[in-house]
Amino acid sequence: MVSPLSHCHPFLVILLGIHWIFATVQAQGNVSLGDFFSANDKNITWQSPSGDFAFGFHSIPDEKDQFLLAIWYVQILDRTIVWCANRQNPAERESKVELTSTGLVLKDPKGRELWRSKSLKNDAQASHAAMLDTGNFVIASRNSGNIWESFKYPTDTILPTQELDVDGSLSSALAEGSYQEGKYQLRFNNGSFILNQIDMFTGKPYNDYFILGNGSRLIFNKTGYIQIQNSNGSLLNLAPENAAPNPESNYYRATLNFNGVFTFYSYPRNPSGGGSWSAWWFRPRDICSRFVDSTARLGNGPCGYNSICEPINGRPNCTCPPGFSFLDEKNPYNGCKQDYTSYPQDCNPDGSTIEEDRFAFKSMQFADFPFSDYGILQPANEFECKQSCLRDCSCAVAILQDPTLSKDGNGTCWKKKLPLSNGWFNRDAVDRTALFKVLKSDASRKNPATPNPSDENQNQVILILGVLLGTSAVFNFFSLAAISLIFFCLYKRRLRDFNGIPSRRDLETNLRFFTYKDLEQATNRFKEELGRGAFGTVYKGELPSSFGNYVAVKKLDKFVQEGDREFKTEVKVIGQTHHKNLVRLIGYCDEGEHRLLVYEFMQNGSLSSFLFGVLRPRWQQRLQIALGIAKGLTYLHEECSIQIIHCDIKPHNVLLDDSFTAKISDFGLAKLLINNTRTMTGIRGTKGYVAPEWFKNTPLTVKVDVYSFGVMLLEIVTCRRCVEIEMEDAAILTEWAYECYSEGIAEKLVENDEEARSDLGKLEMLLKVAIWCVQDEPLLRPSMRTVSMMLEGAVQVPTPPCPFLANPLSRF
Ligand SMILES: *[C@@H]1O[C@H](CO)[C@@H](O)[C@H](O)[C@H]1NC(C)=O
Ligand SMILES: *[C@@H]1O[C@H](CO)[C@@H](O)[C@H](O)[C@H]1NC(C)=O
Ligand SMILES: *[C@@H]1O[C@H](CO)[C@@H](O)[C@H](O)[C@H]1NC(C)=O
Ligand SMILES: *[C@@H]1O[C@H](CO)[C@@H](O)[C@H](O)[C@H]1NC(C)=O
Ligand SMILES: *[C@@H]1O[C@H](CO)[C@@H](O)[C@H](O)[C@H]1NC(C)=O
Ligand SMILES: *[C@@H]1O[C@H](CO)[C@@H](O)[C@H](O)[C@H]1NC(C)=O
Ligand SMILES: *[C@@H]1O[C@H](CO)[C@@H](O)[C@H](O)[C@H]1NC(C)=O
Ligand SMILES: *[C@@H]1O[C@H](CO)[C@@H](O)[C@H](O)[C@H]1NC(C)=O
Repeated sequence: MVSPLSHCHPFLVILLGIHWIFATVQAQGNVSLGDFFSANDKNITWQSPSGDFAFGFHSIPDEKDQFLLAIWYVQILDRTIVWCANRQNPAERESKVELTSTGLVLKDPKGRELWRSKSLKNDAQASHAAMLDTGNFVIASRNSGNIWESFKYPTDTILPTQELDVDGSLSSALAEGSYQEGKYQLRFNNGSFILNQIDMFTGKPYNDYFILGNGSRLIFNKTGYIQIQNSNGSLLNLAPENAAPNPESNYYRATLNFNGVFTFYSYPRNPSGGGSWSAWWFRPRDICSRFVDSTARLGNGPCGYNSICEPINGRPNCTCPPGFSFLDEKNPYNGCKQDYTSYPQDCNPDGSTIEEDRFAFKSMQFADFPFSDYGILQPANEFECKQSCLRDCSCAVAILQDPTLSKDGNGTCWKKKLPLSNGWFNRDAVDRTALFKVLKSDASRKNPATPNPSDENQNQVILILGVLLGTSAVFNFFSLAAISLIFFCLYKRRLRDFNGIPSRRDLETNLRFFTYKDLEQATNRFKEELGRGAFGTVYKGELPSSFGNYVAVKKLDKFVQEGDREFKTEVKVIGQTHHKNLVRLIGYCDEGEHRLLVYEFMQNGSLSSFLFGVLRPRWQQRLQIALGIAKGLTYLHEECSIQIIHCDIKPHNVLLDDSFTAKISDFGLAKLLINNTRTMTGIRGTKGYVAPEWFKNTPLTVKVDVYSFGVMLLEIVTCRRCVEIEMEDAAILTEWAYECYSEGIAEKLVENDEEARSDLGKLEMLLKVAIWCVQDEPLLRPSMRTVSMMLEGAVQVPTPPCPFLANPLSRF
């Protein structure tokens, strides 16, 4: 209850002067022992005599029946709270504050204590209290002066006549419009007043991000100056700069804002037209740059993790980089999260990215994350920087210092992983470019996070990739090969024992196990046949997976008699391969007598239909495809855990995805066709692609694939098949190509191909590589790694010798 004590002597306040700590001020207020009021719609407050400040319950906007015991400006309609008792602990409706002899006590409606004023002086009994015109609420005892003052317990704001000593501190609010305690502090530390962030989980302070000044007392004097008094007593004026304050006509306050900027504000007392707080002075001037100094690198910066801070009018403006969005839409200062996180589900065990071509880069100039790098390439150009980040599954962003911008002419690439900290954007100070690895927009629907595994069985299509021999039945990429070949291939490896029954998802290879029924359903009872090959029949199915909505289901009718273990072994070998230039095995079924393999679906069919179709594909696209195949083979030969010889490299067995990335299919299956005695009976290579040693009784090596690649490279260059009987003298492509090359008329090979003819240097390089690959002598053929490097231009291609040991014609 409020009791205006009319019989008391006139309300007298000795306004606190600059040295109030030493002044023995006795406020003779009109709040008496036993006075109280409650948090409700009556809005009772205790006001200062001038009517400038009110002490009361402030109803928290947007939070029904939650109240703060606070002090605010009465005259300013837009409520500005300068002090608050229970910022961490809001009071519910009908909570009550009362002046008792031990001080102010805030209790909830059930009588539980929420907050109480701690007496500055032990044992002193409160006798009365007052809301002063300075904004200070004081509790006094009859003979010991003030025993409590709100000025001694500031929240985020100080007012004229208020001071901070070595024990005082300000603590920012959590967010705009919030009153909860946030992550910034202003406090005294080791001889200075500093601004620092705190660890939100423990409250421990980080290093300062700004030093306001040296001294042991921060004073906001009555005239409106903020100053720091140093040890010898002299005063350093901080604010306002270059202007004389006028407290008669303005309210002043200095607040450590939720965004970490300590700001001096003024507000006209008699505003003509709606007034507003204007910021006169603030520190730091550019908060974003303060957090890229090494002393302040700890903490999550003004914008939180994975975000970019840009100073706009002294305030941090927080944005999310490409591929990221705000963690909390309502609070942009809280950091960002990656929309699609590739780590770790898209990573190979060796840390490389599984499907590189699903990612692209978005660049942002003048942006940097100075601290989160885990790898540095130097010297590096943009291409190398992107490639390194693309292939490295952990890499979220690469920061490039362009070679042309650096003093020594060497570019640098810093690779960063999540969380990205202390990101900033500054046109004047940052000379780097951030390259963000993002999921391509057309790949987003393939986001593995989206499909619900339990749904997968319900949908239909599975496209099984046509295999060794495509048939052109429905889709011409399974083009019909008249003579089907069964290849004899060897894995140079120890066979490992894979015992045990696969679970629904094989943890080692991440392959999915399907029941026969699943696949029957997905293919609509094996309705749509895509092709028939050496291993069985391929059906189209619709079945959502990480790789799209379609799959290819290959039904291996030839293996029924084979040992179960052999099948599982091969499946695991295939399942362990991860490369962007290999068709991905998604899962398998080995139920009863059924053996099925489920592959990702390739939208653009086979290289065969692409090369030999009606329209000649673009030169550059063909070169990319050739390089992709070379890389896929390099992986099979040298990089996967178990060496795999493909044995049937030809355009039918290279498929193209929706972005025309070449993917080798049907690797790893030839092993299943080898009979127990390992004889080559009945096995023939595809005419034109087969290395001569096929026909000799010598062990097969990876060089058989190099040979076939060479033939195929010529096909890619010329867009014609390796054997075209009707072309008479030029019927055998390898021979014709060598002839043209050795006679110096290489352009004859690409007669109607303007793009190729205008790129004769590259054409010659490709021819030389191909001729090296098709050497009759296997030892002369380069490895696929060397071939890849040659195609990339990383190594020179020497002049090749004649590839034919004997009269070429005798071979066919
Ligand atoms: C104290 O007195 C002032 C005027 O002298 C009045 O405005 C204010 O409401 C009074 N406060 C209380 C708690 O009675
Ligand atoms: C108390 O304040 C609230 C919110 O400002 C207002 O809606 C309500 O009408 C006020 N009650 C009285 C009695 O003035
Ligand atoms: C305090 O500051 C002084 C000088 O500024 C410095 O030499 C000293 O190491 C600091 N002490 C601590 C604990 O930071
Ligand atoms: C504060 O003191 C330190 C050394 O104690 C000095 O380096 C620094 O310049 C001083 N800062 C100001 C604003 O005087
Ligand atoms: C406040 O500081 C300013 C600048 O130092 C000074 O001119 C003014 O007299 C001071 N005011 C009081 C009340 O001490
Ligand atoms: C007091 O401190 C100020 C600022 O640090 C300095 O300029 C002045 O010389 C000092 N005076 C004495 C007596 O130390
Ligand atoms: C940042 O700036 C942009 C445009 O200047 C603005 O739309 C956005 O609201 C700002 N964000 C913050 C957090 O200030
Ligand atoms: C720049 O890179 C080249 C090649 O690696 C190296 O030889 C040179 O020393 C580098 N320059 C500097 C200044 O590091």
